[in-house]
Amino acid sequence: MAVDVLLGLQWGDEGKGKIVDVLSPDYDLIARFQGGPNAGHTLEFNNQKFVLNTIPSGIFNPKTMNLIGNGVVIDPIILKRELEGLKARGFDPVADQKLVIARRAHLILPTHQLLDAASESKMGVGKIGSTLKGIGPTYMDKTGRNGLRIGDIQLKDFKERYEKLVNKHLSILAHYGEIPDFTEKESAFFEAIDYLRNVPLVDGEHYVNQYLAKGKKVLAEGAQGTMLDVDFGSYPFVTSSNTTTAGACTGLGIAPKNIGKVIGIFKAYCTRVGGGPFPTELDNEVGENLRALGHEFGATTGRPRRCGWIDLPALKYAIMLNGVTEMVMTKADVLSGFETIYACTHYMYNGEQIDYMPYDINAIRPEPVYESIPGWNEDLTGIRKPEEVPAKLQDYINYLEKHLGVPVRYLSVGPDREQTLVM
Ligand code: GDP
Ligand code: IMO
Ligand code: MG
Repeated sequence: MAVDVLLGLQWGDEGKGKIVDVLSPDYDLIARFQGGPNAGHTLEFNNQKFVLNTIPSGIFNPKTMNLIGNGVVIDPIILKRELEGLKARGFDPVADQKLVIARRAHLILPTHQLLDAASESKMGVGKIGSTLKGIGPTYMDKTGRNGLRIGDIQLKDFKERYEKLVNKHLSILAHYGEIPDFTEKESAFFEAIDYLRNVPLVDGEHYVNQYLAKGKKVLAEGAQGTMLDVDFGSYPFVTSSNTTTAGACTGLGIAPKNIGKVIGIFKAYCTRVGGGPFPTELDNEVGENLRALGHEFGATTGRPRRCGWIDLPALKYAIMLNGVTEMVMTKADVLSGFETIYACTHYMYNGEQIDYMPYDINAIRPEPVYESIPGWNEDLTGIRKPEEVPAKLQDYINYLEKHLGVPVRYLSVGPDREQTLVM
């Protein structure tokens, strides 16, 4: 058995949560492999809406187990809040034993968030637009070999290890200026750690591989998107983990040969939240329309998302890096009523026309070259079968498949679980 992977092909918020929830009945285990509560994955069913930050999006499927993998960074306060929030709404992953956490997953400390904020405020105009959840500093401590892992909460000297790391953080924070008081956050942190003792810790790498050995099906759920990958994204305007398929191997402990399908998800247009280059951004009325029609506001931070047309060089790049075998297109319904839509096929870059993602799109900004495509008028939100797809939308899908060389297997026409077509 192989591990299938579902991940974002753009700058995040492609609809991963919704689609993982839709696919979860086909899987025995859903495993988040990287990122942390910078993610906001939205799911809707039975007129209820949920936003998950750390918990995998298979949590609402009664038969699916969920693993927070070693590649994830965990804020205990946020994870506790998520679990309590679900319990209050009739889902109790702890009592129902539907969630396990890899011991090797790193912990986000209150001082990691202070470091994130201090670093961002120091950067001024060049700031990344971080979600300020402490993601960057936590991964820095992980690779710097200073981090605390959730498995460490079972050690007798956990508190001393915590103090040692906090003291290191305080000496760095002192360079930035006055250190905000974090005593309340600190007590909430230790309260949350105690609460999380009720969630089983596992050796995630053995856990996942045992599923495979037993012939069970595993889906790895990505966070963020390919263009936010720390190696291949629009660096330095990226997150601090590998959001690409390779990240599923290191973030779960699975061998590359055990990767099966790679399901790449993209919006029918494109969005980005936070700073950094965005070649097809529409800083005009069209972009504002897309934002209003698509309700493009961050699920985690509420920030307005920047909107633009679909970017084919960026998508081709993402498909290459991830080895995408099939695709999901979401939010096609948002484009209904646009007389003409546009696809960026090339960039003008340094006076040359190119059709690939270059090394630097920040100091040297690519100018998008567009092809126009006739739009469709039909409301898509009620369609459920491929036969009901309007001809013009089918043309757009065919056009994308031809340019990208990968089939669109699923089409999403609204936020609800039911609003999904298998093509
Ligand atoms: P994720 O981070 O990739 O899980 O995506 P987010 O949840 O941050 O953002 C996607 C947003 O679009 C959420 O509000 C979803 O409810 C919504 N959504 C997902 N698919 C569709 C769709 O096909 N059409 C519409 N209109 N909304 C969708
Ligand atoms: P999901 O999983 C969209 C962006 C932030 C910022 C940059 C770095 O919901 O798709 P960080 O907090 O990681 O230091 O922020 O990455 N970012 C996201 N954008 N969706 C996300 O997650 C994101 N997680 C981080 O806005 O530009
Ligand atoms: Mg999101």
